Amino acid sequence: PPKARGFVNGVLRALARARWSWPAPDTTEGIGVRTSHPDWIVELLVREFGISDALATLALADEPAPVTLRVNRMRAPAAEVAAELRAAGIDVQPGALVPGALVLRHPGDVAALAAVREGRATPQDQASQAVVGLLDPQPAERVLDVAAAPGGKATASAEHMDDRGVVVAADVHPGRVRTVVRAASRIGLRSVVPVLADGRHPPVRARAFDRVLLDAPCSGLGVLRRRPDARWRIQPEHVPELAALQRAMLAAAAAAVRPGGRLVYAVCTLAPEETRLVEPPDGFDVVAGPGPPWRPHGRGVVLLPSDAGTDGMFVLVMQRAG
Ligand SMILES: C[S@@+](CC[C@H](N)C(=O)[O-])C[C@H]1O[C@@H](n2cnc3c(N)ncnc32)[C@H](O)[C@@H]1O
Repeated sequence: PPKARGFVNGVLRALARARWSWPAPDTTEGIGVRTSHPDWIVELLVREFGISDALATLALADEPAPVTLRVNRMRAPAAEVAAELRAAGIDVQPGALVPGALVLRHPGDVAALAAVREGRATPQDQASQAVVGLLDPQPAERVLDVAAAPGGKATASAEHMDDRGVVVAADVHPGRVRTVVRAASRIGLRSVVPVLADGRHPPVRARAFDRVLLDAPCSGLGVLRRRPDARWRIQPEHVPELAALQRAMLAAAAAAVRPGGRLVYAVCTLAPEETRLVEPPDGFDVVAGPGPPWRPHGRGVVLLPSDAGTDGMFVLVMQRAG
């Protein structure tokens, strides 16, 4: 519209008049301006991972995320869903991290794909699919997901269990619990039980679950490419607040694990307080994490977006002493 054109021209002319010099390229400010990130995120990534991995992480945060599907193996093998998508003209590649995952190029509205609408596939990043692989829930087990919405890992767990057993899928926000209900009903899963509950005080019996997942609320530094405004909204002071919430939720999640049972802590972020500084609760041993492309990080493992083209993720797998 002509009005907007005049406004944009005015802004550009004002910018051209301003005596503004480009910051030196190798400084925090220079990297921040070039990749459009606040200084504190640049500094945090450089401190944690070194300059070259930090630059790769920041550059990928400016690229769109690939669309990845998890195939519901109860309904169809991955090859069959891949063939269905290719027949619809979509470029489909197997995932580099999770071979059964399907990475799509330019699929358009992914929710509108028949395979997704009919529950044969679900959009889910490979790093998240890998977390459920590490939780490794088995048919007929009792599983608790204490921060479950929108239900990606809870529904993946149920599929992993052939929909046999129970996946208690709790979240503290009522609107978000409804997203879990919708996800489970789209796929037709009966074992997922959505529950409205605060993960710091889950209303469950102590030591009653075979496996407990805490996919905790976090600062999201591993998924910045998914929400371009997130990097400007998250503030450094939020990190210790989130770390305190994560520790309270981890203690509560641990209480629900049976002797010999598994506890998995996961966050899609890269801040040290939320990742490598997290310790297993008393009575829990660390289970060795997966090898490359995952990297050892504190007591767990981390995956940078540049390692396998996935979201950034930290995972700590633990087991209660039998
Ligand atoms: C990283 S997301 C979980 C993603 C989910 N596991 C999945 O795979 O789809 C974190 C979730 O924690 C929830 N949450 C935040 N505070 C919570 C609390 N005190 N108790 C339970 N859930 C909480 C948020 O509503 C959000 O849905």
